[in-house]
Amino acid sequence: MSTIIVTGGAGFIGSHTCLLLLERGYEIFVIDSFCNSSAKSLEKVLMILLRFNNDLKDKLHLIKGDLKNISDIEKIFKNCLKQFKKVEGVIHFAGLKSVFDSVMDPLSYWENNVIGTINLLKVMEKYDCRTIVFSSSATVYKAKSDKLLTEGDFCEPVNPYGFTKLTIERILSDLNKNNDQWRIASLRYFNPVGAHESGLIGEDPTGKPNNIYPQITRVAIGKLPEIKIFGSDWPTHDGTGIRDYIHVIDLAEGHLCALEYLSNQKPQMLTINLGTGKGTSVLEFIKIFENTNKVKVPFSFHERRQGDNAFVVADNSLAKSILDWKPKRNIEDICRDGWKWQLQNPNGYSE
Ligand code: NAD
Ligand code: UD1
Repeated sequence: MSTIIVTGGAGFIGSHTCLLLLERGYEIFVIDSFCNSSAKSLEKVLMILLRFNNDLKDKLHLIKGDLKNISDIEKIFKNCLKQFKKVEGVIHFAGLKSVFDSVMDPLSYWENNVIGTINLLKVMEKYDCRTIVFSSSATVYKAKSDKLLTEGDFCEPVNPYGFTKLTIERILSDLNKNNDQWRIASLRYFNPVGAHESGLIGEDPTGKPNNIYPQITRVAIGKLPEIKIFGSDWPTHDGTGIRDYIHVIDLAEGHLCALEYLSNQKPQMLTINLGTGKGTSVLEFIKIFENTNKVKVPFSFHERRQGDNAFVVADNSLAKSILDWKPKRNIEDICRDGWKWQLQNPNGYSE
């Protein structure tokens, strides 16, 4: 039985990954400050699991802590040691992720994302744990008109959030060059959306969501009046922006593949895109959502959003060949599962 620490495990992607890790037999210690999540997500994870196996509840340990406080991180490693559990690796989701907020308050982003990661890496070194899977983002790339993005492409983030991700990738690469025992995977996510098929866990953004998918579900349920489509004159087939929407469970599976690959291979650093390789325009996404769920999603066209690109789609051949991973769910699955989550939890995790 392997023991894994998951930072930010109560969040959107973290909670879905915790579910799969527990299903796969890992024992997990989650550290989360709940600055953008609720412990309820992990209670729901247990609800899903306990239908099948009552023993699994002892395999999930949840610790409230902040990566900005190095002592909070150290507490978990000490705790594992006390229980004679060697931490095999860390999946590092904890981070702030709003592009807008990062522009308004860059210092918080640099402090939380970069200092938090440095603290984590220091404690990992101290406790001789040198395997890490890191949540990076496609936002690190300089987007290229209509070409799929490959890992070797030029990186040039256009906001502080993106720079924190690229900086962390650089720190990880320096560590790997300095000490050949590190096993590192930087996973560059494209657009994670959808929810677990049970409808029990999903994305619960605080405040008004900025991303398109949580807005689609909120418009469909009547919490928001309409989608404001940013730009109808992009150089795409219907004039709206194209993105690579990936089902959160496919993304979570990518983490297990990365972790297992790292454990079975010699120490190395991988940088890998996790996307489907298929682009969907905003208009197509809205139409597919309407047809799949038989609901209406009103929209209107507006000016382009600053910092946006026409086309951001992954070349995912590296993930397929190295990790033996491929996305199994399509855009209809994304629309169906995310809608189920929204319908069953109109107020997210709050009562
Ligand atoms: P999320 O906000 O739902 O989850 C992040 C979790 O980290 C939250 O539970 C939050 O409370 C926790 N956290 C943040 N700072 C912390 C700190 N200092 N100490 C302890 N816990 C802390 O976000 P998500 O969508 O699940 O994203 C997970 C990771 O993936 C983030 O690093 C994000 O930047 C990255 N990412 C997300 C997307 C996306 O579209 N969702 C795309 C690319 C990359
Ligand atoms: C955005 C961020 C990116 C971040 C990602 C995940 C920007 C410019 N990019 O990516 O850095 O990694 O979120 O958090 O903020 N759209 C609308 N109306 C809306 C919202 C979005 O038309 O109200 C369009 C966008 O123009 C885009 C598509 O929907 O064409 C997807 O947008 P979004 O969900 O915000 O994701 P990204 O822009 O890819």
